[in-house]
Amino acid sequence: MPALVLLGAQWGDEGKGKATDLLGGSVDYVVRYQGGNNAGHTVVVGDQKYALHLLPSGILSPGCTPVIGNGVVVDPSVLFSELNGLNERGVDTSKLLISGNAHIITPYNVTVDKVTERFLGKRKIGTTGRGIGPTYADKINRVGIRVQDLYDESILTQKVEAALDVKNQILTKLYNRRAIAIDQVVEELLGYADKLAPYVADTVLVLNQALEQDKVVLFEGGQGTLLDIDHGTYPFVTSSNPTAGGACTGAGVGPTKISRVIGILKAYTTRVGSGPFPTELFDEDGEALRRIGGERGVTTGRDRRCGWFDAVIARYATRVNGLTDFFLTKLDVLTGWEEIPVCVAYEVDGKRVEELPYSQSDFHHAKPVYETLPGWSEDITKAKSFSDLPKNAQNYVKALEEMSGAPISAIGVGPGRDETIEINSFI
Ligand code: GDP
Ligand code: IMO
Ligand code: MG
Repeated sequence: MPALVLLGAQWGDEGKGKATDLLGGSVDYVVRYQGGNNAGHTVVVGDQKYALHLLPSGILSPGCTPVIGNGVVVDPSVLFSELNGLNERGVDTSKLLISGNAHIITPYNVTVDKVTERFLGKRKIGTTGRGIGPTYADKINRVGIRVQDLYDESILTQKVEAALDVKNQILTKLYNRRAIAIDQVVEELLGYADKLAPYVADTVLVLNQALEQDKVVLFEGGQGTLLDIDHGTYPFVTSSNPTAGGACTGAGVGPTKISRVIGILKAYTTRVGSGPFPTELFDEDGEALRRIGGERGVTTGRDRRCGWFDAVIARYATRVNGLTDFFLTKLDVLTGWEEIPVCVAYEVDGKRVEELPYSQSDFHHAKPVYETLPGWSEDITKAKSFSDLPKNAQNYVKALEEMSGAPISAIGVGPGRDETIEINSFI
């Protein structure tokens, strides 16, 4: 019963979509377990490029059943526009399953997300503005709307009333906004009920039965380890658990069932939105990484902040996720640098620290301690095996592996499915 978790080892955008798509052909189910349409996963298949936000990247593999687990927050309007977009391009989406326990991002959650950010001003998180945080807040406050609520109008109305009672007070009295009409929200949500119905399922049962039948299940994380609400750079995080444990709660599968946890790791580092980022570059190297790596957000179109590889973060990701493997992506982007600095430790108030500081103030002061590795200039995008890589690229990979604490089992040398060097097979 192979159950694999594939997740971001940094601040998101590591190339999870490409890695998931690559494995999609060999797995029976691909499951999103947290987050929502804050994710932006680009998948390149031949000459076709797909941008997925809410749907699992496995949807592009015909044999694979895509699943939206209970831990995901679902914006129905986004769901249908994404499904329509794929159908128009000839992708069959009929196998999709959505948990009846997944929470719905309502229009008022999106409003609250945007208004709160505006109110925070300079202290804003830099969210994607998709209503993610407020929807998870409602879930935790027990005033959330779940997919299954759409099938009981009376319960739905009561729940929307309960949620809006307080929110309308805040919107009108604190934020100077108009109150949101309960009937309008209920009507809009009910309008999705019939269209959603064919997809709604007891996904916990389906996935556990699949595992009992030795089917291969891949759990695809959104965001990344350092954006985790518990283990990330709080408060500059997302409002869910992208780390490995999130796959268990977000899909209803016990930890004893998980056989492998793969961390997707970019050969350098990027971050979108606010928050600390020790290796961030503000010079022409940062600009070059952004340009060569195409580091622009798929969801919001914002430029990504760019910096050198940070081994402290990679070690941390190995630990909090129990990583068994890394999939190193975008090695090709580093081609052409004579020397490549890699952050091996931090200096915090004059002291060298090897591990991620537990205290947020220390992390905010952390200065990277760099070791410089020799670069390479040969084109590596056609490399098919590790030995095809130039010696210095091999040494860069080996050094990262040693510092990061788990074997690098695959290397991305381009955005396409086949631009990958497989070292150890994942399944
Ligand atoms: P995700 O959110 O983790 O799925 O990552 P994104 O899709 O937001 O960002 C990763 C970007 O890098 C996408 O545009 C991918 O097509 C691209 N990509 C993935 N792997 C590689 C690689 O090995 N090399 C290059 N050059 N691009 C890659
Ligand atoms: P993928 O799956 C990168 C960031 C936002 C913001 C913070 C909180 O493509 O890797 P939110 O809207 O989630 O409340 O925003 O998290 N963020 C991401 N950054 N990749 C993502 O997803 C992200 N999803 C959210 O920029 O800093
Ligand atoms: Mg992304």
